[in-house]
Amino acid sequence: MTDIPTMTLPTLPAHPDPETDRVLDSGLLHELSYAFGGPFHFLLPHRFDANLAAFRTALHDAGVEGRVYFAKKANKAAVWMERCAAQQAGVDVASVGELREALGHGVRGKNVVVTGPAKSDELLRLAVLQGCLIAIDALDELDLLITLALTGAVRPARLLLRRLPPAQPHSRFGMNDAEIETALDRCVRAGDAVRMEGFSFHLSGYATQPRADLAGELLDLCLKARVLGLQADRISIGGGFAVDYSAADHWHSFLAEQKPEHYHAKKAFRTGDFYPYHSPVAGADALRTILDTIPEGGQHTLAARLKDTGTLLMMEPGRALLAGAGSTVFCIQGVKERDGYRIVTVDGTSLSLSEQWFNSEYLPEPQLVTPSGPVNGGDAGAVHPACVGGASCLESDMVTWRKVPFPARPRVGDLLVYPNTAGYQMDSNESPFHDLPLPPKVVMDRLGDRPRWRLDRRPAC
Ligand SMILES: Cc1ncc(COP(=O)(O)O)c(C=O)c1O
Repeated sequence: MTDIPTMTLPTLPAHPDPETDRVLDSGLLHELSYAFGGPFHFLLPHRFDANLAAFRTALHDAGVEGRVYFAKKANKAAVWMERCAAQQAGVDVASVGELREALGHGVRGKNVVVTGPAKSDELLRLAVLQGCLIAIDALDELDLLITLALTGAVRPARLLLRRLPPAQPHSRFGMNDAEIETALDRCVRAGDAVRMEGFSFHLSGYATQPRADLAGELLDLCLKARVLGLQADRISIGGGFAVDYSAADHWHSFLAEQKPEHYHAKKAFRTGDFYPYHSPVAGADALRTILDTIPEGGQHTLAARLKDTGTLLMMEPGRALLAGAGSTVFCIQGVKERDGYRIVTVDGTSLSLSEQWFNSEYLPEPQLVTPSGPVNGGDAGAVHPACVGGASCLESDMVTWRKVPFPARPRVGDLLVYPNTAGYQMDSNESPFHDLPLPPKVVMDRLGDRPRWRLDRRPAC
């Protein structure tokens, strides 16, 4: 088997992360892999706390009253709900299960916003009873909520009206101009059965200017609704705060160089289908930028307009609150030689690295960890290219299609640690296909030479 010189394969290393390196150096991951007998994820909750604090600091620095709601869909672990409850942060839920999880871990109903389309009766009823704020997506949903509030024991039903983004007219979410007009009229008629607290949106993509523009439009809508006698004192700008996974030069040269020959079976990916793994403005800095932007057609920054109009700013970051907050660990179960590269098969499936199921690939490179520790530099000038397959009978079950230029030859029993996977990668598509157990999640409560760990959820008795 020939080794390929380094220069011929593009690489995309993740940003260095000394804390994750300490976990890798500790030897704990091989112990856990042995104990679980399959893949697992580890979580770093202090990173979540730091990301939340950074969002709150951005609001404070801009002098804007605001609230951060963690978009729960980004990761199912219980520990995030525990952190939200402890820090009095909000949670964005979109199902009865998510709402139960939030409430069950101590998040108060008044700190929950309920999003998602065509919410079920059960979800709406529970949300009203718990005093949650409900983002109404359509007129029929509003009618259902008003009926529930008029006939139920608890009122008012707290609601936002979700705006269909004019710049994304093909979105299936939210209401257009005419529907918003009708919705306002119905809220006025519903009297004290409902409390119309404002408007919301969620935009695809990560650009900041469109978010400031639409937020500006929502402020105008609030002023209009207030004239009608409605409360309308808050807006939610949804999620979509980018995460910066890798350095600019690595990302740009990766995009320029990558081609089908660099992937197993010459798999072709369109560069536009990749997540933007480098973002010059990410996380709480994106919020700072949005607040500092003058919405289209205006004269004042969004921050100034929020203050002038006495409007509270809500946001629902998912991925950005989980930046750097966890990694995914697979163990190599088999190694097969191919022409010029190897196919490594791990002990889990690509259903535990969700990006693969969106015509795309999770690109930040896995770290090879042998029983004696992480391999960083290899034999000078030589690399050991390998793609990574899942332990299933599906051709399409590739954890990594790309031939990753590993610095040493991957061997059975080595670990592959995929970095920064807490946001959407770990569990949004997980499945016990082939009766494989779902990978457990391990919470690292303390780092150091001997990290202190526990299971995210205690096993049932
Ligand atoms: C309504 C809503 N809010 C928030 C989010 C979270 O987005 P992100 O994780 O990109 O911040 C989503 C994601 O789909 C969403 O649909």
